[in-house]
Amino acid sequence: TRRRTHVDLAKMRADGEKIAMLTCYDASFAQLCDTADVDVLLIGDSLGMVLQGRDSTLAVTLADVAYHTACVVRGSHRPMIIADMPFGSFQESPQQALRNAVPLVASGAQMVKIEGGAEMAETTRFLSSRGIPVCGHVGLTPQSVHQIGGYRVQGRDNSGAVRLLADALAQQEAGATLIVLEAIPEALAAEVTSSLAIPTIGIGASRECSGQVLVLHDMLDISTGRKARFVRNFMAGETTIAGAIVAYVAAVKNGSFPGPEHCY
Ligand code: KIV
Ligand code: NA
Repeated sequence: TRRRTHVDLAKMRADGEKIAMLTCYDASFAQLCDTADVDVLLIGDSLGMVLQGRDSTLAVTLADVAYHTACVVRGSHRPMIIADMPFGSFQESPQQALRNAVPLVASGAQMVKIEGGAEMAETTRFLSSRGIPVCGHVGLTPQSVHQIGGYRVQGRDNSGAVRLLADALAQQEAGATLIVLEAIPEALAAEVTSSLAIPTIGIGASRECSGQVLVLHDMLDISTGRKARFVRNFMAGETTIAGAIVAYVAAVKNGSFPGPEHCY
């Protein structure tokens, strides 16, 4: 067996098969996700919140993400591995981004995810033309929480929607082969998905996205604090964590998650 790649994800989109993605941070959960046939594991900087107990992702370091990436890689064989580039590790320049992507790739990441749209297109072009596949991330970008003024739905008004579509197109044009759409209106997520050729991964977006992602601890209902609208507790009706992850994959694949109650 070999790991899935972005080429496999493109084929899944073309074939109409939904992509099931979860965040993951350690070998034990990675093994459960592998067994449940999760397509993609994201070592998200959400680890700052769910593992480290912080109230934002801003203090997560490159070393943190590299460490957890190596743990997830050791626990799995089949899912594609994507690592988040943390705040401050890529915004300065394409060169800085490449230098800091290297330890993540060395830890086993097959792709790095950077938050941003058109303003990060040059960086996406630089990384992808030098052998590092890039996942874009538009909509609610938690590393910009202070600039946004809180964790809130993006692209609600017409100018915001136009800008978001342009950002997603700029990422694709720059060479991104995957893009996360976070916390945007359902209709906008559907429009972005149909306007792009690359797969879209939604979180608080739309069932029309090419795939879905949730934070593992949220969907297992073991994270504390206020839960976002887009989270579904997959432990409901299950007796094991393994069962909950299997239920998530099934719900993404058959299109029953997300429902309208998880969207904006
Ligand atoms: O850090 C993270 O978990 C993420 C996903 C929610 C997309 O970026
Ligand atoms: Na993230």
